[in-house]
Parts: sequence; structure tokens; C-alpha cells
Amino acid sequence: MRLPSLFFAGCLLFGCTTATLTRKNRYIAPGATWYDTDGNIISAHAGGVVKTNGTWYWFGQNARLEDKDLFSGINVYSSSDLLNWKNEGRALSPVPGTDIGPERVVERPKVVFNEPTQTWVLWFHADNSTYGLLRQGVATSPNITGPYTFKETFQPLGNPSQDFGLFQDVDGAGYALYSNGDADADHDNLITRLNSNFTNVEKVIYTFFDFDLEAPTMLYTGKRYYILMSHKTGYRPNNVVVFSAEKLSGPWSVQSYIATLGTRTWNSQSTFTLTVGEGRERTYIYCGDEWATGNTLYDSRYVWLPADVDDQTGSFRVAWRDLYSIDVKTGRITSPKGRDYEAEDAELTGPAYITLCPTCSGGKVITGIQGNATVTIRNIIGTGEPQWVSVYYHNPDGLWGDNRGGVSVLSRTATYSVNGGTPVSIIQRSGSAGIILSQPLNVTFNAGGGNSLTFAGFDGGVAADLDKIVVYSNIYED
Ligand SMILES: *[C@@H]1O[C@H](CO)[C@@H](O)[C@H](O)[C@H]1NC(C)=O
Ligand SMILES: *[C@@H]1O[C@H](CO)[C@@H](O)[C@H](O)[C@H]1NC(C)=O
Ligand SMILES: *[C@@H]1O[C@H](CO)[C@@H](O)[C@H](O)[C@H]1NC(C)=O
Ligand SMILES: *[C@@H]1O[C@H](CO)[C@@H](O)[C@H](O)[C@H]1NC(C)=O
Ligand SMILES: *[C@@H]1O[C@H](CO)[C@@H](O)[C@H](O)[C@H]1NC(C)=O
Ligand SMILES: *[C@@H]1O[C@H](CO)[C@@H](O)[C@H](O)[C@H]1NC(C)=O
Repeated sequence: MRLPSLFFAGCLLFGCTTATLTRKNRYIAPGATWYDTDGNIISAHAGGVVKTNGTWYWFGQNARLEDKDLFSGINVYSSSDLLNWKNEGRALSPVPGTDIGPERVVERPKVVFNEPTQTWVLWFHADNSTYGLLRQGVATSPNITGPYTFKETFQPLGNPSQDFGLFQDVDGAGYALYSNGDADADHDNLITRLNSNFTNVEKVIYTFFDFDLEAPTMLYTGKRYYILMSHKTGYRPNNVVVFSAEKLSGPWSVQSYIATLGTRTWNSQSTFTLTVGEGRERTYIYCGDEWATGNTLYDSRYVWLPADVDDQTGSFRVAWRDLYSIDVKTGRITSPKGRDYEAEDAELTGPAYITLCPTCSGGKVITGIQGNATVTIRNIIGTGEPQWVSVYYHNPDGLWGDNRGGVSVLSRTATYSVNGGTPVSIIQRSGSAGIILSQPLNVTFNAGGGNSLTFAGFDGGVAADLDKIVVYSNIYED
């Protein structure tokens, strides 16, 4: 009923555009598939965000299913609320025959405004397909959304550069963050100052000697600088670390983890940090990539989570939230309350059974969800509209293998079916023993009680153990 009437009103008032049909997101849902205001999947990986004139611009690597080239472009999206993102098109496109040709690597785009030249400058990691060139690249545009004009690639100060992060300090100075490569002689991470027009680097400010980290991002709270970096484990997430200092030249603190051990930073790799709001409620948001691999690269998700930052100790910690919204003026974070349904109250068939789980809600979990096992949670109250449902699960097949032989299994696959409908498959990313992860699903129940949700293994395979589900309010504003 809702859509046709909205559409009708849209036709009368504004003409029949698809934009009038767009429903506004209420929440940031880490790890869900995020859609732009046209209803397409947001493709902006390893990205960076800049704010100007009250609008946020998010730049990231394009990785759509249909784009097979190694470098297919840098996309840019805009938003005034960090919830609803409009596709502003390709900021940078491949230029055949140059260092940003379609067979090249152009990664980790970061954009900054250069005051002296009144130009937007897009920096990135530039390489060939075997990562043997280890360069940085620069493109510029008079307009923030581009199109950006490719300038050149180079090795900063004649040295190799791997991965890329960019930081602009309160005095306007720009800094490049990168590692000098994987070779035995390298393994360092650098903070290097840009020249005054942001077209090259001019001076190494600090070297994190022999740390061998990547995916750097930095922020400043007004008291301390924080630099986050991940370990080098390819597309597999690991434990992101943070260092802090009062001055960019150091001394820098020792490293510490930003998230609960065993979650591998909630299955994500650092790419950027956002500073939102002013004053007491100002919030720093950790922006991570939840990479998918191979031909599912397009399905890589975004994990954005508010951080607790303590300038006294230099701690930067990221706790999981299923959903939240943020007041972009103040930075205040609000998380909605949901209704819990414990898996141990579900109806079980086949080999599934209840067992103890010390880290689970209620101390119990359903395991053995494989073969013809099903787990059906009944009497769920729904709204009749798309709702967020978080599935709390246990999958200990993680990076270092807490199951026998289970080394490095990135995920299990399960299915869920709403009110006995067609099963839909879901990827359940791995954690470690005792680690309960939560995964957002977009579910439309019937309005009122009496709904059911049935989980099973995919194609007879093993699903993750099921702890509980939390049913939240509607995905969209009314
Ligand atoms: C910001 O707003 C000012 C005044 O409206 C305008 O001149 C300027 O071009 C805008 N900048 C961007 C990047 O949109
Ligand atoms: C990448 O560059 C390195 C260094 O020049 C070179 O050894 C390697 O063959 C190149 N890879 C490709 C695919 O061209
Ligand atoms: C920048 O934007 C202005 C105003 O919209 C437009 O006239 C100009 O062509 C744009 N420049 C580029 C390089 O796209
Ligand atoms: C700014 O860029 C120009 C080239 O466009 C270059 O010649 C000049 O050296 C740069 N300025 C600085 C301070 O590096
Ligand atoms: C599940 O499969 C087993 C054999 O694999 C069979 O004995 C059992 O009856 C099946 N249960 C259901 C509910 O289909
Ligand atoms: C949620 O599901 C509905 C119904 O399938 C779909 O129209 C909508 O685009 C989905 N939204 C999100 C954010 O996944």
C-alpha cells in the first residue's frame, strides 16, 4: 500500500522520478549490503571520506560484478547524514597506456583539498598486477566529485610504497601513510609530509621500524594523534592495531588492538576514520572493509563502528553495534533496542541440538546445524515492513583455526526462510572459539505476531552455531 501511494504523490508533486521512490535509511548497519539512493550496491572499497560544505564525499575502489578489469575506476558518493549515499559517478577512470590503465592496480584512494592551488587532490597506491612497482599516484580536479585528471605516479623520495593512507593536520599540512614493502630490507611504516601543493612527498616525519603493517589511517583528537594499521594477511581480516602520540614525530606508544581479540576487528580491515560532530559528543568512527574474495569481491561489505577514544591512555577501542544512527551535528550515537529470541527456545529437527556455551546469551547455543537439521524460531513479532534482524552465531573456523583442520576457513554458509518461504543463503564469516558474531539480515515479516524464521545448513553443509536473533525496528524511515 505504501509504495503506490508514495509514487502517486511523487508523480503529482515532482514528476515521476525514481528518486521519489527512494526510502531513507534509519541506521548504519555494519556488515550489511549497503545501497545507494538509486538502490544499487555501494561500490567504494578501501575508501576515504572528506567533508565539505556540510556534505560528506566517500571515494572508493569500484568492484562491481560486471567490471572485470583489475582497475575499473574510483567511485564517489555524497551524503549529508552518513546514512543515505547518492552516487556521484566515477571520480577517476582508467586511462589505457598509462600507469592507471585497466591492467594496473589503483588502490586506497584518498582525497584532500589543497588550499594554495584550490584543487582537490586524489592520492592512491599505484602498482602493476604483481605488485612490483610499489608507487604512489596523484590525480587532481577543480571539483570535488571530479572527474579527476591523472597526473603521475612515483616512488616517494625514491623508495617503494605499499598501501596508502592520507592525513590532513589542523594546520592544513598533508601527510602520506604507507609501508615500504614486503622485501626483507623493508617492512617499515612511514609518515611522510606532502609538499605545499600536495603533488608529491617531501620529508619522512616518522618511521615505524620493521612493523610490517598496512591499511593505515590516522586521526587527531586535538590532544593526540592515533594511527591504525592492519597486519598483512591479504583479504583475510586480522587484528587491527593502534599507536598514539602527541606529536607526529613521536614518541609513539606501543601498539595495541582496537577490537575484541578473536573477532579479527569484527571481520574487517582498516581504511579510514571519520570525525563527526563538535564538542563533548564528537565521535570518531572506524571505517573498515569486510573483504570478500575472488569473483565475489563485489560483495565486500563495510564495517563502520564508533570508537571509544581515551587521550589519557591512548586507547582506541571499537565495540560491535548491530545498528546505530548518528547526529552529524553533535556526533551523538543512538542504537535502537531490539527484541531477543533465544535459539534454545527454537524448534529443532534432524541433528541440531542444544549445548552449553559460556560466552553465549543464556549460556546456551544450538549446534549440529547440518544435513537435514532445521532450527525454527517461532512467535516473532513483525511490522510488515523490511526490518533489521541480527543473527548471533558462533563460527570458530577462524584465521588460525580453533577447529581441528579448520585453518583459515573464511566462512560457513547457512540458509534462512521467513514463514516457511524460499530459503535464502547467508555467508557466516568466521571468528574464533567462543567469539559470538552478529550478522544483519533484511527481513520482512507479517505485521503482528506468529512469524517464524527457520535456519539450516546450505545444501546439507554445516551452518554456524546459533545463539539468538534480535529483531529490530524498520530499516526505513516511514
Ligand atoms: C561550497 O559552497 C560555496 C558557497 O555556496 C561554493 O562556492 C563552493 O563551490 C562549494 N564547494 C563545494 C566543494 O561544493
Ligand atoms: C611489475 O613490475 C615489476 C618491477 O618492474 C616487474 O618485475 C614485474 O614483471 C611486473 N609485473 C607485470 C605483470 O608486468
Ligand atoms: C566543475 O564544475 C563546474 C560547475 O559545475 C563546471 O562548469 C566545470 O566544467 C567542472 N570542471 C570539471 C573539470 O569537471
Ligand atoms: C607545485 O607544483 C608545481 C608543478 O605544478 C611544481 O613545479 C612546484 O614545485 C610545486 N610546489 C612545491 C612547493 O612543491
Ligand atoms: C534426517 O536424515 C536422517 C538420515 O540422514 C534420517 O534418519 C532422518 O529421518 C531425517 N530427518 C528428517 C526430519 O527428515
Ligand atoms: C530489504 O529488502 C527489501 C525487500 O526485499 C528490498 O526492497 C530492500 O531494498 C532491502 N533493503 C536493504 C537495505 O537491504
